[in-house]
This record gives sequence, C-alpha cells and structure tokens, in this order.
Amino acid sequence: MGGASGPSAAPLLGKTEGDGVTIDGRTRLAGVIGWPVDHSRSPMLHNHWCRVHQVNGAYVPLPVKPGQLEMALKGLAAAGFRGVNVTIPHKEEAFRLCDELTETARRAGAANTLRFVEGRVIGDCTDGTGFCDNLLAHGVRLEGRALILGAGGAARAVAAALQDRGCEVFISNRTASRAEALVQALGAGTVLDWTDWPSRLGEMNLLVNATSLGMGGRDDTAWSSLLQKGQEGLSVADIVYTPRQTPLLKAAQERGFRTVDGLGMLICQARAGFQEWFGVLPEADEASFDILAQDLARHGLS
Ligand SMILES: NC(=O)c1ccc[n+]([C@@H]2O[C@H](COP(=O)([O-])OP(=O)(O)OC[C@H]3O[C@@H](n4cnc5c(N)ncnc54)[C@H](OP(=O)(O)O)[C@@H]3O)[C@@H](O)[C@H]2O)c1
Repeated sequence: MGGASGPSAAPLLGKTEGDGVTIDGRTRLAGVIGWPVDHSRSPMLHNHWCRVHQVNGAYVPLPVKPGQLEMALKGLAAAGFRGVNVTIPHKEEAFRLCDELTETARRAGAANTLRFVEGRVIGDCTDGTGFCDNLLAHGVRLEGRALILGAGGAARAVAAALQDRGCEVFISNRTASRAEALVQALGAGTVLDWTDWPSRLGEMNLLVNATSLGMGGRDDTAWSSLLQKGQEGLSVADIVYTPRQTPLLKAAQERGFRTVDGLGMLICQARAGFQEWFGVLPEADEASFDILAQDLARHGLS
C-alpha cells in the first residue's frame, strides 16, 4: 500500500515497535480511501482507539486514484476489509456505488463511511452528526438561523444535520447553481448570493465555513470586513482543520465571536465507523483530541 511507505508512515499509522500491536489472521481491517490520502489524520485516530480499546484491528491509508474507486471497493471487500472511510475526491462517487444507503447518507447525497457486508456495500454519512456533536460539545446551541458557506459534500451533510435539529438554514456558494440544488434537495432553506451574505450576517446565530477556503492556509479572503455585520452571540465554525486556526476563525476571534475549529468534527464523525468495523464506540475524549492536535502542531498546522 503506497500510502503506508515513506517517512511519514510510522507516525500516521500510530504504530511503533514495542507498543504491543499485533497483526495476525484475525486482525480486523479498515482504512481511508482518498487521493491524495497521506494528509489524512484518520489512521492516527483509529489506531489510537484500537490500542486504547485493545482491539485487534488496523486502519490504513488507501491511496486510490479517481476512476478506480469501484475496483478498489470490490478488492477491499474481497480481501476481508470490514469497511472504509472515503474522502476527497471520492465521496459523491462512493454514494453512487453503494448497494444500500442510510437515510442520513441519502439526505446528504454523499457517503463517507462504508461497510462491506456479504458482498454488499452499505454507505452512511457521518459528517453532519460529527459537526453537530462537536458544536454541542463546545456549548453552541443548535437553534435559530444558520448560514452555511459552501455546497459541496460536507456542506450538504452539515446543512441536512442542522435542518434536522431545527435550524433555519441559509446557503451561500461561489457557484450559485450548486446552492440552489442543495436547497432543492433539502426541501427547505434559502439561497443567499455569494457577494450578498455579509449584509445578512446580522440575522444569523451561526456561520459555518464548509468550503475548502482556508485549507493549507491558502485564503486571502477579507474575512474581517465580511464579518462586520455579525451580532453579539454569533458563533463561527470552520470545518477545515488544516490549519486549525483558519483565517476565518482568526478574524472571528478578533471580532469577539465564539469560534469552533474543525478538529473536533473529525473526531466526532469517526466514532460511528469505528464502532461498525471494530465493535466499540469510542469517546471523542481529550486524549483523542490531544494526539491529533499535537500532530498538527508538529506540522505547523495549529
Ligand atoms: N473536519 C472534518 O471532519 C471535515 C469533514 C469533511 C470535510 N472537511 C473539509 O471541508 C472542506 C470541503 O469538503 P467537501 O468534501 O465539501 O469538498 P467539495 O465537495 O469539493 O466542496 C468544496 C466547496 O468549497 C467551495 N470552494 C472551493 N474553492 C473555493 C474558493 N476559492 N472560493 C469559494 N468557494 C470555494 C466550492 O464551491 P464551488 O461549488 O463554487 O466550487 C464547494 O462549495 C475540505 O477542506 C475538507 O477537508 C472537514
């Protein structure tokens, strides 16, 4: 497996000599499919949970090129994998390839957590629940009006989850047609023009960046002036977690708004998959958080 070679393999897998991990014929296998996938912190998290819960399991990065997802899923299922997480750019194709979908995946139009059961692929989408659980853990009340920036796979999941929890959802996306399609799929919600949302911010309780703006620190958006109309009590969440403090969150913090970064969402969304594949529901606890936060800090992504 290409992603498991190279200098970063040992820390990403979270396994070192002498940590008591054994791979044998009974080891339960799962992994994360992406392209590229070497940035993913999911192997570190799942292997940490395997150790903590004494599970005979292993979770590996699986670099799969665009166009090869179907072949990869068949091969992994045939090789005895329990299932996989799916990340960029495969989430929407994974949705199409599933034999069965949970209601949540259907609502989100994307699948990020797959189970292989007797030759069938069952798809779930845990991003929305992970996002909401993380906000609740940070004391953010899920009520009132939520403005979501973005209309990609993650935005769809977040919007559906917030709507299911009773929020009034507003969507703004650079490509307006995708925002329109999302509102249509949700069966409710309002589209705001990409240049117009800052003028409506005063009406919102929650602002969510669900675009990839800010990822890798590449973002020259003038967030501070865009946030000018935000009211006291506004919470600002970013689902990007590399870096944790995105330019949006920095601007929001400077304006005195409550902020929530994307790292907790990553942990919360992973729990359900771990339970399906390895049989234990892990906690999104401080130790899980610390292990990832320290790794991001080592890579200058705090
Ligand atoms: N914390 C977590 O657990 C978690 C979970 C899932 C995803 N994520 C992160 O969330 C981000 C989005 O993921 P995704 O799966 O939804 O990706 P996606 O389906 O590719 O969607 C990308 C979104 O970003 C917008 N966008 C991209 N570049 C932009 C720019 N320069 N200006 C304005 N909008 C821009 C796109 O707008 P257009 O439609 O106009 O192209 C689209 O709405 C990624 O950074 C991903 O790593 C985090």
